[in-house]
Formats: sequence, C-alpha cells, structure tokens
Amino acid sequence: MGLDQNVDIAPATGRLGVLLPGMGAVGTTFISGVLAIRKGLADPIGSLTQMSTIRLGKRSDENAPRIADYVPLATLDDLVFGGWDVFPDDAYVAASRAGVLDRHLLEQLGEELRAITPMPAVFEQSYVRNLHSDNVKTGTSKMDLAEQLVDDIHRFSEEHGCDRLVAVWCGSTEVYREPTEVHATLEAFEQGLRDSSPDIAPSQIYAYALLSQGIPMANGAPNLSLDIPCMLELARRHQVPITGKDFKTGQTLMKTILAPGFKARMLGVEGWYSTNILGNRDGEVLDDPESFKSKEMSKLGVLDTILQPDTYPELYGDMTHVVRINYYPPRGDNKEGWDNIDIFGWLGYKMQIKIDFLCRDSILAAPIVLDLVLFLDLAKRAGLSGIQEWLSFYWKSPAHPDGVYPEHDLFIQLMKLKNTLRHLQGDDLITHLGAEYYD
Ligand SMILES: NC(=O)c1ccc[n+]([C@@H]2O[C@H](COP(=O)([O-])OP(=O)(O)OC[C@H]3O[C@@H](n4cnc5c(N)ncnc54)[C@H](O)[C@@H]3O)[C@@H](O)[C@H]2O)c1
Repeated sequence: MGLDQNVDIAPATGRLGVLLPGMGAVGTTFISGVLAIRKGLADPIGSLTQMSTIRLGKRSDENAPRIADYVPLATLDDLVFGGWDVFPDDAYVAASRAGVLDRHLLEQLGEELRAITPMPAVFEQSYVRNLHSDNVKTGTSKMDLAEQLVDDIHRFSEEHGCDRLVAVWCGSTEVYREPTEVHATLEAFEQGLRDSSPDIAPSQIYAYALLSQGIPMANGAPNLSLDIPCMLELARRHQVPITGKDFKTGQTLMKTILAPGFKARMLGVEGWYSTNILGNRDGEVLDDPESFKSKEMSKLGVLDTILQPDTYPELYGDMTHVVRINYYPPRGDNKEGWDNIDIFGWLGYKMQIKIDFLCRDSILAAPIVLDLVLFLDLAKRAGLSGIQEWLSFYWKSPAHPDGVYPEHDLFIQLMKLKNTLRHLQGDDLITHLGAEYYD
C-alpha cells in the first residue's frame, strides 16, 4: 500500500552552512573532498547521498533513481564551511598536517582551504588530556561560553549568507563520563552552565548552543554530548533531529558487516579479538586511558546487540570480545586493524577468521560526514525532530528510544534508511516480503 501523500519538505534553497567543532583529520578531509569533487577532481566514493540508487516499486519496474535525484537534498555547491578548533591553523595547514590527502590535491584547493580558519574553541584540558594549544575562549561561566558560541554561529551565518546550518562534531574524543544530575533536565543543565559545573563537557556546551538555535548536530566521537535527557528535551523544544554517535568506520564497520552473516547462518562465535595501530592525533588522544574508555564502550556495544547472546546462549553466550587501540606514530592516519575471530560450526567444530584491514580512517569517515550533513538538513526541512533511527547506518552507537535496543545490523539499517526516504516521498516501502517474483 502506498502512503496517501508525501511529507511536506521545505525546498533546499540557498546556502547550507556546515559548522564543525573540531577541524582535524576528519574535518579537513571532508571539506577538501567536497571542494575537490565540486571542481571535478575526484568522485564522492563512499557517499550514499551522492552515489547510491534507491529502488522504487517492483523489481520489474526497473525504476532506481539516485538518492540525490530522488529526495530534495542540498547540493555540494550549496555548502559553506566553518568551525572551531583548539589549534588556530587554517584548513590548508590543518589538512597538510593531518597528512591524509596528497599535497598535489591540496595545492589545487589551497585558496579556498586557506580562507577557512577556525574560531576559538570551547575547551577544557581535563576532558582531552593529550591536547595542548591556546586557540581557546575564556569566559565568566560555561553559560557565557555557550553564549559566545551562539554569537559565533550568528556571525558565521550572516557573513556567509546562510539559509540553514548543520553541525557535525569532528573534535577529539573526550574522557569517559556517565550522566549526572546536571544532565537530567534542561533546567538543571542551564543552572549547571551558570554554575560552571565540572560535569559539563565542552562538547555539551557546543550541543547546547547549536540545538538552542534549532541547528541539528551530529556527534562523530563517542563522548557523551547529545545522548542525555537535557539535550533530548532541548531538541524537542526546538524541533531538532537527533541521531547517534561515533562514526562507524574501519573495524566496527567490518563487525557490523560480518556479525549479521554469522548470525544469519547460526554459526557460533567464541571470541572476537580486535586490535589497532594508529598514529594520528586521534590515536594520540586515545592513548589517554580515559578517552580510550569512551571509545571502548562504543566499540564493545555492537556485537552483543547483533548476536543476541540471551536469545542464542549456545552460540554467543560465552563470547569473549576484546578491543585494543595502540598509538603508533609511524602509521599516521593509515590505521591497521587486526581481527581474530574464533567461530564454531556443526557439532561445535572450531574455525578461525583473520582480518588485516589496512584502512584510512579519515577517508572512511569523510563521506559519512557529508551524508549526515545532507540528511540532517533534509530531516529538519521535513519537520522530523527527536531521535532519527533511520540514520543508525552511520553510527557505532545509534540513538534509540528508551525501551528498545539499538539496531546495529548494517543491512537492516540500510533498509530502514531507504524506507524512510520512500516514506518521505510517499512511495511504497520495500520489505522484500512479497510472494511474487517481481515484488
Ligand atoms: N576517522 C575515523 O574513522 C573516526 C571514526 C569514528 C570516530 N572518529 C572520531 O572523530 C573525531 C575526529 O577524528 P580526527 O581523526 O579528525 O581527530 P583529530 O585529532 O585529527 O581532529 C580532532 C580535532 O578536534 C580538535 N578539538 C578537540 N577538542 C576540541 C574542542 N573542544 N573544540 C574544538 N575543537 C576541538 C583538535 O584540536 C583536533 O584538531 C575523533 O573524536 C575520533 O575519535 C573518527
């Protein structure tokens, strides 16, 4: 059954400002990539919004437009970039330092990249111990810092003639923290800002400033920023869509591709040992055990929800899951991730799978930033607010309503994403349940 009518989506007219708290390896690889693609120097590989098609109707209809031609997304030409960083380097210097993209490509984008300079950051050393720099705001309280961010946002928007704004946290991973009373309600949080509560992290101050201006923000890191009751309350109040956290790239991407396959074939998993060597600034920050803990919690959650050990105790009940990250400077952004997976099959006979993934972290993350920018802007224009589970596809820790488990299976996530787009456009959902060959 088709839906009676499609959702009313405001057109994507004018400029879309993209604000990045954190303009390091991921942030500058994303910006440089969009600039390069605009100039026809490269293709947007890895981006669903730019490359993927979406099937409509029956298979025999042979109707599969590109997502970008199907839903009203902002175009790459509409995007303007800004952000904040603890280091004052412009995007050209920061991209050169990150060492992800080759110099020849960066030279061709030099003028545009040099024009993008970070605004001074809201930063607190105790939340990211291994970073030291001074492009940092000072203020009389955390509320004062939030107000300074709001001023930055308005100034940026006016200077660049933006019609709408979206933000993606591409900043460092903050130390692991549990929510406290200050996060329980918006009122408590605002009082905490005025009192400069030590429980309020810098990323939460950005989240407060952005959401209070009705601007959607995605959190690329595993820290506690948006997944706290006060932010959900703020998002509801300002009709802002909320999604998950911690970009699903390298090793976790592999996990969410393989684990659903093992479960689908009812193969047991006795253990999954994952280790990485990583030499970029992200690796340096994660070398602090407290920042690593944020990452570890986010990475560990994935397998349990996919494999459901409570439902299948004989297959997954005794599984050992270990994740390690080692800071190893020679590798830079080119991480190497090893997985040893101990599985078992018929009659309990054991087998092993070894993966050695020589990946490039920021190359995998940049298209995710682009898709999130465009989809969050779409969601906002479509009047969607609160938790957007259809964007779980991009996250190690998808946002989910209380009382249900997060969906980690990449293929269920993709179906949910595409069906949401079909729903927005008033087309039939595709469930693959039809009995006829052409369904
Ligand atoms: N690349 C990936 O595959 C991937 C995957 C999942 C998550 N992440 C996360 O994305 C984030 C960015 O990764 P990266 O490789 O670009 O790291 P990076 O260290 O190169 O960049 C992070 C930048 O954030 C800045 N920063 C830190 N605190 C800030 C603050 N309070 N305000 C403004 N700027 C601040 C730092 O100065 C730095 O320039 C990290 O948290 C990382 O864990 C990356």
